[in-house]
Amino acid sequence: MTNMEQLTVKGLTKEYEKGKRALKSFSLAVPAKGIFALIGRNGAGKTTLIRILSTQLSPTSGTAQISGLDILKDTDALREIIACVPQEGRAVGWLTPRQFLSSYLMWRGFTSKEANLLLEKSLDELGIKKYADTLNRLLSGGTKRKVLVGMVMASGAKVIFLDEPTTGLDPISRDELWRTLVKLKKDHFIFLTTHYLEEAEKLADKIGVVEDGKLMALGTMAELRRKVKYPYSVKILSDHTVIKPRRGELIKGVDGHYQIVTTEKEAGRISKQLINRGVKFSMNPLTLDDIFYYIVRKPIEAENYDQQEYY
Ligand SMILES: Nc1ncnc2c1ncn2[C@@H]1O[C@H](COP(=O)(O)OP(=O)(O)OP(=O)(O)O)[C@@H](O)[C@H]1O
Ligand SMILES: [Mg+2]
Repeated sequence: MTNMEQLTVKGLTKEYEKGKRALKSFSLAVPAKGIFALIGRNGAGKTTLIRILSTQLSPTSGTAQISGLDILKDTDALREIIACVPQEGRAVGWLTPRQFLSSYLMWRGFTSKEANLLLEKSLDELGIKKYADTLNRLLSGGTKRKVLVGMVMASGAKVIFLDEPTTGLDPISRDELWRTLVKLKKDHFIFLTTHYLEEAEKLADKIGVVEDGKLMALGTMAELRRKVKYPYSVKILSDHTVIKPRRGELIKGVDGHYQIVTTEKEAGRISKQLINRGVKFSMNPLTLDDIFYYIVRKPIEAENYDQQEYY
């Protein structure tokens, strides 16, 4: 593969003014086609990366190229081929979607006639034509979000950055947007972030997991699944109960509950013990959320749970 078809990020570091390092020598290489989804918990560095790649923010060090264009050296050329919906992006409130898209497209260099054709197609495709002449500020949060997606779709940009495009959308609107993105990915490169793992699984050709400014894992959903050593999960739902697995790993969830990832056999053994002791628990094969959790969370070190009560 030539670098013309790649997104290549090398040693990208971003240190904000107050010394916060949001990206720590972040590197990545993925094909610049189809959909790439970046997942990671709040504050992991997703938006920072999107802002740097879409040339809105300069890195402290490191570099990146999209389709052979360098974010620092070829900024103008890159801006021609990219469009971005920021996480906090809002359509201008005192314009209607039609006016907003038209001015954006004309700002990008289209004539008013071209802009009109493009925006009608895009509004139609997103199912928001009926709102085309309502002021943006009067639209619901989800529809406002769709107006922004419509804007980048209409722009003709081949590389589209969507920072949490479906946050706040109802399940039906989300589904509609997914369908649009699937159509769009045939001849675009879509880089999106999401907190919905199901979305990443359904849409993405490749998924990256970022944690504390570093890339922790990269691959297709099937590849990420294979990174998990233990396929079963036992969640202990009562406080202060810890079971030390013979095989597997113990993880403490944010809700304070313990989860054991382990083999099917060991999960069965632990379940029996828990039933005997009347402890509430749930047992299931790992969900995608579990896999994510497994990747970003280290198992608790023995000394951390030695003081705890366990059976
Ligand atoms: N302008 C800024 N100045 C200082 N620190 C910042 C700034 N913007 C972001 N940060 C910090 O950088 C880190 C990464 O933030 P970023 O917004 O990239 O995370 P994120 O992965 O997009 O999170 P979320 O899922 O909540 O959107 C966080 O610790 C954040 O507080
Ligand atoms: Mg973000």
